Amino acid sequence: MSLKGRDLLTLQEFTTEELWKLLKLAEKMKMEYYAGERIKEVLKGKTLAMIFQKPSTRTRVSFEIAMYQLGGKALYLSWNELQLGRGETISDTAKVLSRYVDGIMARVYRHTDLEEMARAATIPVINGLSDLHHPCQALSDIFTIYEKKGYLKGIKIAFIGDGSNNVCSSLIIASTKFGLHVNVASPKDYMPRQDVLKIAEINSAESGSTVNLYTSPEEAVKDVDFIYTDVWISMGQEEESKKRMKEFTPYQVNKRLLSYSPKAMIMHCLPAHRGLEITDEVIDSERSIVWDQAENRLHVQKAILASLL
Ligand code: CP
Ligand code: NVA
Repeated sequence: MSLKGRDLLTLQEFTTEELWKLLKLAEKMKMEYYAGERIKEVLKGKTLAMIFQKPSTRTRVSFEIAMYQLGGKALYLSWNELQLGRGETISDTAKVLSRYVDGIMARVYRHTDLEEMARAATIPVINGLSDLHHPCQALSDIFTIYEKKGYLKGIKIAFIGDGSNNVCSSLIIASTKFGLHVNVASPKDYMPRQDVLKIAEINSAESGSTVNLYTSPEEAVKDVDFIYTDVWISMGQEEESKKRMKEFTPYQVNKRLLSYSPKAMIMHCLPAHRGLEITDEVIDSERSIVWDQAENRLHVQKAILASLL
C-alpha cells in the first residue's frame, strides 16, 4: 500500500515493511545529502503547517529544514496564536488548513486532540509528540541503531526511567516492529502502559521481539547494546515534579550504572536534564550517540515527508 496521504500518529498504523521503506529512503537521502545534494525538488510547491502547543528545538527545526531541503515550505504556527487558542475547534481548524497546505505536523498535550485533527483533515497529520507517543523520534532512533549496527533483529536495548512516557511508548512500539529486545527499568508506578504492552505483544508475535520489565536499572542494562533514557518530568507533568524527582533518583544513567553494561552505546532523545536522568560524563562520553540521534531526525523526517506528502 502506498504511504501517500496517510497519517502518522503512533507508527502502529504502518507495517514493518512500510517502516523499512522509510528507513531505506532515509538512508539514501542522508547519503545524497552528504554527497552534496542538499536540495531536492521532490516536494516542490508543497507546504507543511507545523502546529506547536509546547516548546521544541529538534522537532521544529528538523521539520522546517526538511521541508526546505525537499523543495517545499514549512509554516510555524503556535497553538495560542491561532484561533485555536480562542476556542475555534480542532476539527474546524483541520478542515481549513486542509484547504491551504499539504500536510500538518502537530505537537499537542492530548493525543486525542491529534486524533480529532486527523479525522477532520483531508491531508496527512503527523504526530510531532503528544502525551502518549513520539513516533518520529522512535523511527529516527531505530534508524540510528541500524546505522550503528547494520542490522536490527535481535539487538538489545534498555530504557531507563519513565517507562510510561511518550518516548518510551514509541520506542517499545518501534522496537517490537523490527525484532529488537527491549528491557524497561522504571519505578513501579511508571511502568509501560498496558495499551503499549498490548501492541508490543501483537508486534512481537510476528517479529520475535521480547519486552521485559524491571524495577532494577542494574539488571535491565546487563548485556544490552544500547541504553536509552529521557527526562523524568515530561512537558505537562511539572506539577508532579517533587514526587517524580524522588522516585526517579535511583534511575540516573551514570558511570556506576554503565559499569554493569560495559559495551552499550548511550541514547537520549534530548533535551537532557544533565545531572538528573543522565550525568555529564555519560552524555559527553565516547559511548554517547545522542548527537547522531538528533541529526537523524532530519533525514528520517525527510523520508516521512517525501512519502506521505
Ligand atoms: N527530541 C525532541 O523531540 O526534541 P524537541 O522537544 O526539541 O523537539
Ligand atoms: N518525554 C519528553 C520528550 C521531549 C522530547 C516530553 O514529553 O517532554
